Amino acid sequence: MSKPDLMEKIVSLCKRRGFVYPGSGIYGGLANSYCYGPLGVELLRNIKNHWWKTFVHQRPEVYGISSSIIMHPKVWEASGHITSFNDALVECLECHNRFRADYLIEEKSDLKVEGKPLSELEKLMEEVDVTCPVCGDNKFTSPRKFNLLFETELGSVQDESSTVYLRGETAQGMFVAYKNVLDSMHPNLPFGIAQVGKAFRNEITLGNFIFRTFEFEQMEIEYFIRENEWKDWFEQWQELMWNWIVNLGVSEEKLRWRKHTEDELSHYSKRTEDVEYDFPFGGFKELYGLAYRTDYDLKQHQEYSGADLCYQDRVSGKKFFPHIVEPTFGVGRTLLVLLLESYQEDGDRKILSLDPEIAPYKVAVFPLVSNKEEIVNKARDVFAMLNSQFHVAWDDRGNIGKRYYSQDEIGTPWCVTIDYDTLEDNSVTIRDRDTTQQVRIKINNLVNWFSNQLFLKK
Ligand code: GAP
Repeated sequence: MSKPDLMEKIVSLCKRRGFVYPGSGIYGGLANSYCYGPLGVELLRNIKNHWWKTFVHQRPEVYGISSSIIMHPKVWEASGHITSFNDALVECLECHNRFRADYLIEEKSDLKVEGKPLSELEKLMEEVDVTCPVCGDNKFTSPRKFNLLFETELGSVQDESSTVYLRGETAQGMFVAYKNVLDSMHPNLPFGIAQVGKAFRNEITLGNFIFRTFEFEQMEIEYFIRENEWKDWFEQWQELMWNWIVNLGVSEEKLRWRKHTEDELSHYSKRTEDVEYDFPFGGFKELYGLAYRTDYDLKQHQEYSGADLCYQDRVSGKKFFPHIVEPTFGVGRTLLVLLLESYQEDGDRKILSLDPEIAPYKVAVFPLVSNKEEIVNKARDVFAMLNSQFHVAWDDRGNIGKRYYSQDEIGTPWCVTIDYDTLEDNSVTIRDRDTTQQVRIKINNLVNWFSNQLFLKK
């Protein structure tokens, strides 16, 4: 299957089967906004829960928080986002569409130019003869800095003092809460503060479905360490991030690490490496990031807030600023990659071979026929029993073959059919999504059987 074909199939499956709808559809849509449907929201929750279990619950030194989306405006002054969270914007003089200058150059050449000074980008645009992707013209305004923070007003009076920002990264919530976590949880170094939540960016270049949107969810950890340990922790987090996504079924050949160039580094970072995935649009692009943020953020917040953000060593009593390694994961990009990786076709059969732990439904229950009361009632009992433990789908439409296909397409790992024999022997047929093999199991053993399967697949 060609790459554009695959992307088209995923976008269409997402809409048809209730994973992702275009945003504000009944009003003609709002570009680059989306609504996660009944199955998409389950998949998102399962991804986030799996992440939380792995990086918060299974790591006693990591503490979860959930901070406000709108924080004190000084947070963004201190963090450097008001002055430095910019992209280079150009406008086509013919059709007035706006683009990121660095992306236009990179699309036209093999150069990596993200973060280069505006004057250099302007020269390069001429050198590689950038043309407008919309109208084909080659005349643009000079690149200018465009800040990505969304501004809004707090309260009913609009003046400068009421300007606030939608958070551009969840990370700042962790730095602002750091002192509260120190005082309430008394952690020893190394320790982490984690958060999952929405971030907002007034992105210039969007598109490619849910890859780049104005609002998106991040799963981030600020990991506080001693300065001399940063390289070790950077390497350890590289391994942890890689293993997490590979264990969810993403093939290693489609993943790579890429180190940021000096120009490209964010204002707070001394070293950043991205996990890139070979997307069907334009090849390897950022999936996740890992940054060594040094003690930049804590020092800035101490300066701007006046709060003492030093950490005091329990044994020596020495006070110092911890350094920070930050693993960051995009939720929407994870969902997109898992759909791309799990989609398969076998003749007419379309399959999402999702890891059972993150599949929207674990099991689907079918009465073989829908007009025989005893079978339907028995199936309802089985549904109620299983649904108290797992998320279970019910389907009594059409024939069994169609129902199997329908569940395969949304990634349900197992289907259970209640048939005439069930009324005699209290057994049901379980059919496996990946092998299509069937086994007969006693109803009393079903919960254990699925629990074991889910445990084994971990
Ligand atoms: N705190 C560091 C930080 O925010 P980032 O690389 O700018 O780093 C982290 O963003 C992750 O958030 C990215 O690796 C990506 O998965 C996701 N992400 C960033 N911008 C996005 C956008 N506009 N739409 C969807 N996901 C995005």
